Amino acid sequence: MKINVNSSTEMKQLGAAIASTAKAHDLLLLNGDLGAGKTTLTQGIGEALGVKRPVKSPTFTIVREYEEAKLPIYHMDFYRLENDDLSSIDLSSYLQQPGLVVIEWPEVVKADLPDQYLQIVIRRVDDSWDSTKRTVEFRPQGKRNEDWVAEIANKIKNRT
Ligand SMILES: Nc1ncnc2c1ncn2[C@@H]1O[C@H](COP(=O)(O)OP(=O)(O)OP(=O)(O)O)[C@@H](O)[C@H]1O
Ligand SMILES: [Mg+2]
Repeated sequence: MKINVNSSTEMKQLGAAIASTAKAHDLLLLNGDLGAGKTTLTQGIGEALGVKRPVKSPTFTIVREYEEAKLPIYHMDFYRLENDDLSSIDLSSYLQQPGLVVIEWPEVVKADLPDQYLQIVIRRVDDSWDSTKRTVEFRPQGKRNEDWVAEIANKIKNRT
Protein backbone atom coordinates (compact mmCIF):
# COMPACT_ATOMS: atom_id res chain seq x y z
CA MET A 1 0.00 0.00 0.00
CA LYS A 2 1.23 3.47 -0.86
CA ILE A 3 -0.53 6.68 0.17
CA ASN A 4 -0.04 10.40 -0.26
CA VAL A 5 0.48 12.57 2.79
CA ASN A 6 0.27 16.30 2.14
CA SER A 7 1.29 17.91 5.44
CA SER A 8 2.80 17.18 8.84
CA THR A 9 -0.73 17.33 10.27
CA GLU A 10 -1.76 14.53 7.92
CA MET A 11 1.37 12.63 8.89
CA LYS A 12 0.34 12.83 12.55
CA GLN A 13 -3.17 11.69 11.62
CA LEU A 14 -1.61 8.68 9.93
CA GLY A 15 0.30 8.12 13.16
CA ALA A 16 -3.02 8.14 15.02
CA ALA A 17 -4.41 5.49 12.64
CA ILE A 18 -1.33 3.36 13.24
CA ALA A 19 -1.59 3.88 17.01
CA SER A 20 -5.24 2.90 17.24
CA THR A 21 -4.59 -0.39 15.45
CA ALA A 22 -1.24 -1.24 17.08
CA LYS A 23 -0.90 -4.19 19.45
CA ALA A 24 1.65 -5.26 22.04
CA HIS A 25 4.86 -6.65 20.45
CA ASP A 26 4.28 -4.83 17.17
CA LEU A 27 7.44 -3.60 15.46
CA LEU A 28 7.48 -0.57 13.18
CA LEU A 29 10.52 0.22 11.01
CA LEU A 30 10.66 3.77 9.66
CA ASN A 31 12.78 4.39 6.58
CA GLY A 32 13.26 7.71 4.83
CA ASP A 33 15.82 10.45 4.32
CA LEU A 34 16.68 13.14 6.85
CA GLY A 35 13.61 15.26 7.49
CA ALA A 36 11.28 12.88 5.67
CA GLY A 37 8.92 12.80 8.64
CA LYS A 38 9.76 9.68 10.66
CA THR A 39 9.76 11.46 13.99
CA THR A 40 6.66 13.46 13.04
CA LEU A 41 4.83 10.19 12.37
CA THR A 42 6.01 8.87 15.73
CA GLN A 43 4.73 12.05 17.42
CA GLY A 44 1.31 11.31 15.96
CA ILE A 45 1.50 7.80 17.37
CA GLY A 46 2.52 9.10 20.79
CA GLU A 47 -0.15 11.78 20.98
CA ALA A 48 -2.85 9.28 19.98
CA LEU A 49 -1.72 6.93 22.73
CA GLY A 50 -1.97 9.70 25.30
CA VAL A 51 1.66 10.75 25.67
CA LYS A 52 1.57 14.28 27.04
CA ARG A 53 5.29 15.14 26.95
CA PRO A 54 6.82 15.92 23.56
CA VAL A 55 7.97 12.94 21.52
CA LYS A 56 11.48 13.96 20.47
CA SER A 57 13.99 12.33 18.23
CA PRO A 58 16.09 10.01 20.39
CA THR A 59 19.23 10.53 18.31
CA PHE A 60 21.58 10.95 21.27
CA THR A 61 19.87 8.57 23.64
CA ILE A 62 19.12 5.79 21.09
CA VAL A 63 15.89 4.87 22.86
CA ARG A 64 13.15 6.86 24.53
CA GLU A 65 10.58 4.98 26.54
CA TYR A 66 6.98 6.17 26.85
CA GLU A 67 5.57 3.72 29.34
CA GLU A 68 2.76 6.06 30.33
CA ALA A 69 1.18 5.52 26.89
CA LYS A 70 -1.94 3.36 26.55
CA LEU A 71 0.36 0.98 24.71
CA PRO A 72 3.95 1.53 25.88
CA ILE A 73 6.15 2.95 23.10
CA TYR A 74 9.87 2.31 22.70
CA HIS A 75 11.15 4.84 20.18
CA MET A 76 14.63 4.19 18.81
CA ASP A 77 16.87 5.98 16.35
CA PHE A 78 19.97 4.30 14.98
CA TYR A 79 21.14 7.14 12.78
CA ARG A 80 24.94 7.16 12.62
CA LEU A 81 25.18 4.55 15.31
CA GLU A 82 28.51 2.75 15.28
CA ASN A 83 28.51 -1.03 15.53
CA ASP A 84 30.37 -0.75 18.84
CA ASP A 85 27.49 1.19 20.33
CA LEU A 86 25.00 -1.54 19.50
CA SER A 87 25.96 -3.59 22.53
CA SER A 88 24.74 -0.73 24.70
CA ILE A 89 21.13 -1.40 23.77
CA ASP A 90 19.40 -4.73 24.23
CA LEU A 91 17.00 -4.64 21.32
CA SER A 92 15.61 -8.11 21.93
CA SER A 93 14.57 -7.22 25.47
CA TYR A 94 12.55 -4.29 24.13
CA LEU A 95 10.93 -6.56 21.56
CA GLN A 96 9.81 -8.83 24.40
CA GLN A 97 8.06 -5.98 26.21
CA PRO A 98 4.29 -5.78 25.68
CA GLY A 99 4.56 -2.51 23.82
CA LEU A 100 5.15 -0.97 20.41
CA VAL A 101 8.73 -0.65 19.18
CA VAL A 102 9.33 2.12 16.63
CA ILE A 103 12.74 2.26 14.95
CA GLU A 104 14.10 5.11 12.81
CA TRP A 105 17.11 4.22 10.62
CA PRO A 106 16.74 0.46 11.25
CA GLU A 107 19.32 -0.62 8.63
CA VAL A 108 22.13 -0.92 11.19
CA VAL A 109 20.19 -3.41 13.32
CA LYS A 110 18.70 -5.35 10.41
CA ALA A 111 20.54 -8.54 11.38
CA ASP A 112 19.07 -8.40 14.90
CA LEU A 113 15.47 -7.88 13.85
CA PRO A 114 12.79 -10.57 13.84
CA ASP A 115 11.34 -11.57 10.46
CA GLN A 116 7.91 -10.06 11.22
CA TYR A 117 7.57 -6.29 11.19
CA LEU A 118 5.86 -3.42 9.44
CA GLN A 119 8.27 -1.38 7.38
CA ILE A 120 7.21 2.13 6.39
CA VAL A 121 9.09 4.08 3.74
CA ILE A 122 8.54 7.85 3.64
CA ARG A 123 9.61 9.72 0.52
CA ARG A 124 9.60 13.35 -0.54
CA VAL A 125 7.60 13.91 -3.70
CA ASP A 126 8.97 17.31 -4.78
CA ASP A 127 12.55 18.45 -5.14
CA SER A 128 12.02 21.64 -3.15
CA TRP A 129 13.04 21.32 0.49
CA ASP A 130 10.02 23.15 1.85
CA SER A 131 7.49 20.92 0.12
CA THR A 132 5.21 19.18 2.60
CA LYS A 133 4.22 16.40 0.18
CA ARG A 134 5.27 12.85 0.99
CA THR A 135 4.43 9.34 -0.10
CA VAL A 136 4.20 6.65 2.55
CA GLU A 137 4.71 3.06 1.49
CA PHE A 138 3.75 0.14 3.72
CA ARG A 139 5.75 -3.08 3.48
CA PRO A 140 4.32 -5.63 5.92
CA GLN A 141 6.21 -8.83 6.72
CA GLY A 142 4.04 -11.64 8.07
CA LYS A 143 0.31 -12.18 8.57
CA ARG A 144 -0.16 -9.88 11.57
CA ASN A 145 1.48 -7.02 9.73
CA GLU A 146 -0.54 -7.57 6.56
CA ASP A 147 -3.66 -7.48 8.72
CA TRP A 148 -2.35 -4.38 10.47
CA VAL A 149 -1.93 -2.52 7.18
CA ALA A 150 -5.50 -3.47 6.21
CA GLU A 151 -6.72 -2.02 9.53
CA ILE A 152 -4.71 1.16 9.02
CA ALA A 153 -6.13 1.48 5.49
CA ASN A 154 -9.61 1.10 6.92
CA LYS A 155 -9.00 3.82 9.52
CA ILE A 156 -7.74 6.24 6.89
CA LYS A 157 -10.63 5.49 4.54
CA ASN A 158 -13.19 6.19 7.24
CA ARG A 159 -11.56 9.51 8.04
CA THR A 160 -13.07 12.39 6.16
N1 LIG B 1 4.05 15.75 5.13
C1 LIG B 1 4.93 15.87 6.13
N2 LIG B 1 5.13 14.82 6.96
C2 LIG B 1 6.03 14.93 7.97
N3 LIG B 1 6.78 16.01 8.24
C3 LIG B 1 6.61 17.08 7.42
C4 LIG B 1 5.69 17.03 6.35
N4 LIG B 1 5.74 18.22 5.71
C5 LIG B 1 6.64 18.96 6.36
N5 LIG B 1 7.18 18.28 7.39
C6 LIG B 1 8.22 18.81 8.29
O1 LIG B 1 9.40 18.12 7.97
C7 LIG B 1 10.13 17.87 9.16
C8 LIG B 1 10.27 16.39 9.36
O2 LIG B 1 11.12 16.17 10.44
P1 LIG B 1 11.22 14.79 11.20
O3 LIG B 1 12.07 15.04 12.38
O4 LIG B 1 9.87 14.22 11.42
O5 LIG B 1 11.98 13.90 10.10
P2 LIG B 1 12.79 12.56 10.33
O6 LIG B 1 12.45 11.70 9.18
O7 LIG B 1 12.53 12.02 11.68
O8 LIG B 1 14.30 13.03 10.19
P3 LIG B 1 15.62 12.42 10.86
O9 LIG B 1 16.14 11.38 9.91
O10 LIG B 1 16.55 13.59 10.95
O11 LIG B 1 15.28 11.83 12.18
C9 LIG B 1 9.37 18.52 10.30
O12 LIG B 1 9.88 19.81 10.49
C10 LIG B 1 7.95 18.57 9.75
O13 LIG B 1 7.19 19.63 10.29
MG1 LIG C 1 13.77 11.55 13.28
